[in-house]
Amino acid sequence: MCGIVGFTGTTPAAGFLLDGLEKLEYRGYDSAGIAVAENGRFQIEKTVERIKNLQNKTNDGGTVPGNIGIGHTRWATHGVPSIANAHPHVSGNEKFAVVHNGIIENYMALREELIADGVCFASETDTEVIPHLLAKYDNGDFFEAVAKTVERLEGSYALGILCSDAPDTLIAVRKFSPLIIGLSENANFIASDVTALVSHTKDILYIEDGEIAVLTPSGVSLYDKNKNEISRATSVINWDVEAAEKGGFNHFMMKEINEQPNAVRQTIESRLHGRDIVFEDMKLDEEKLKTIRRIDIIACGSAYHAGMVGKYVFEELLRIPTNVDLASEYRYRNPITDEHTLTIIISQSGETADTLAALKEAKARGSHVLSIVNVVGSSIAKASDDVLYTWAGPEIAVATTKGYSTQLSVLYLLAIWGARLLHSADEQRLEDIFDDLCRLPELMEQLLQNEEQIRLLAKRCGDPSSLFFIGRNIDYAVSLEASLKLKEISYIHSEAYAAGELKHGTISLIEQGRIVLALACNEDLFEKLLSNVKEVKARGAYVIACATEGHTEIAKEAEEVLYIPKVDPLLSASLEVIPFQIYAYYVALYKGCDIDKPRNLAKSVTVE
Ligand code: F6R
Repeated sequence: MCGIVGFTGTTPAAGFLLDGLEKLEYRGYDSAGIAVAENGRFQIEKTVERIKNLQNKTNDGGTVPGNIGIGHTRWATHGVPSIANAHPHVSGNEKFAVVHNGIIENYMALREELIADGVCFASETDTEVIPHLLAKYDNGDFFEAVAKTVERLEGSYALGILCSDAPDTLIAVRKFSPLIIGLSENANFIASDVTALVSHTKDILYIEDGEIAVLTPSGVSLYDKNKNEISRATSVINWDVEAAEKGGFNHFMMKEINEQPNAVRQTIESRLHGRDIVFEDMKLDEEKLKTIRRIDIIACGSAYHAGMVGKYVFEELLRIPTNVDLASEYRYRNPITDEHTLTIIISQSGETADTLAALKEAKARGSHVLSIVNVVGSSIAKASDDVLYTWAGPEIAVATTKGYSTQLSVLYLLAIWGARLLHSADEQRLEDIFDDLCRLPELMEQLLQNEEQIRLLAKRCGDPSSLFFIGRNIDYAVSLEASLKLKEISYIHSEAYAAGELKHGTISLIEQGRIVLALACNEDLFEKLLSNVKEVKARGAYVIACATEGHTEIAKEAEEVLYIPKVDPLLSASLEVIPFQIYAYYVALYKGCDIDKPRNLAKSVTVE
C-alpha cells in the first residue's frame, strides 16, 4: 500500500522524507520518490529500488536542499512499477507536485478530458490527473485550486501537494485513505501512519475524510469540505515504531483483518460507474462471454477456497458449469480445455509456482485466461489475457485475510457483470445482490465490533487436539477457509467437512466434547444443517454455530452462536469468514504461536 510523507519547516526537508519513507517500507512498495522545493523549483528523485538507493542517490538528502518536500512509496496499481509511474507527479508547467495514496476511480474520464485540453501525460497512473487538474484550476490561489480539484475526484485518496508559488505551504487532503498530521515547533509533517512520525513528534492531528489541511512551518489550518475553517484538538501518541507499523494492533494479521472493509470497498467501488460494473480494458467482452461453455477456476490454498465460493456463485448466476481445481493437480493432469473454457486464476501474490504453471497449461490449450491478482506486474498478471486486480494493498501476515476477501469481491463483481450480459439470472434478484454487495464493507465493519465475543469464545475453547468445521454449499466453502486459517496459525488439527458427508465416515470421530463449528448461513439449507448439528450433538459434540441474524432456533442446539447480518446467501461468505479469522487469531494467540509467521510457511510460494 502506498506511503506518503511531507514536511514543511525551517530546516532541510529531505532528511525527514527519506527517514519517513524508510519507516513506511514495511507497508510494501515497488518504487519511491521525493520532491523537494527550493527557490520555487522542484528537485525530484525517484527509484525502482529500495529507499537506500534514494539515500545514496541524494547523498542522504544533501543534494536536494530545501525546507519543504513530499515523498512516496508506491505499491503499483495503475501502471507497472517504473520511474515514470513513481510519484511525485507534476503538472505540465511544473508548478504542482503531488503524492497520492488510493485510487482515483474516474481517472479515465478525467484523463480524456485533460488530453482534449492538450495535456500530455508522462505516466500510466491514475494519480497524474491530479497535478494536471490543479494546473487547470489554478488562478493564483493554491487552496482554491486544490478545493476545485478534489471536487472532481471520485474514489479514495490521501494527497500531499506542493505549489512552487507557495514556497512554505504544503496542502494535504484525505478521503478513505489514511493520512495524519504531525506537529512540532519548527516543522509540521504529514504521513500515512505514525510510524514515519514517532521519532520526530508525538503530537498528532487527525484529519477526517473530505477535509483539507494547510501546513506551514508555523502552524496547521484545517478546513471542512465546505472550506470552513475548523478546529480540532491534537492527540498525543506513545507508540514505538513497531507498534506504529501495526497500526496499534499486536499483529499484522489483526491489522489486516480490520483492513478488510476498506480493501473490499476499494475493490468494488473502483469498478462501479453508478450501478454499472465496468472492467476497464478487459478483453473478455460480451461476445466472447457468450461463447464460454465452462469455467475452470484454478488456485492454491485460500485462493482455491475463494474459488470454491466462486463456483457456487457462478453456477447460480451465470448458469455456466464451473470447476474448481487445485493448481498443483491441474498442471499434471493433461487438462482438457479450449477456447470455449474461461480459465480464472486466483492468486494474491501472483507468483505461486503451481498456479503459474497451471495458467500456462490452460493458455497453451487455447483457453482465455483471466486472473484475479493482488500484485500489479506479478508473473501471473503478466502471463494472463486479462487481469482483475484485488485492491487489498500488501498483505504482510502469512495467513491471508484481506487477500481472500477481496478475491471474493472480484468474483461477485464478475458474476453480476456476466449475468447481466447473459440474462442468466432473475433481474430483480441480481439487483438485490448488487445492493447487498455495495453494503458489504459497512456490514463487515459491524461484524468486526464482535471481536470481544469471539476472543472470549476462543479463550473458553482452549487448545483442543482436533476440531471440525461443517457446512453445506457456500458454507462448506467457507468451512474450508476457516479450517485452514485455524490450523495454519494455531497448529491445531482441524478438518472441514461437507455436512452431508459426515455420516459417510467422519462422524465416527465425533465424541464427547469434540468442538464442531457449524456454519449455517445458507438459508435454503438451514434445516438440513440443523439436522447435522443434531447428529453431532447426539454424539457429544460441543457445537459453535454461525447463523444469519434472526435464525435464533439454532441457539437451542448449539452451545454458542455467532450471528452475521442477513445478505443474499451468495454473498454470505464475505461476512461469515470474519468471525472465524478472529477465532483462529485468538486461539493462536492464547497458544503463544507466532501468528504473523507460522512455522514452515512462506507468504509467497514460488517453488513447487
Ligand atoms: C493461507 C494462504 C495460502 C495462500 C496460497 C496461495 O492463509 O495464504 O494458502 O492462499 O499459498 O497463495 P497466492 O494467493 O499468493 O497464490
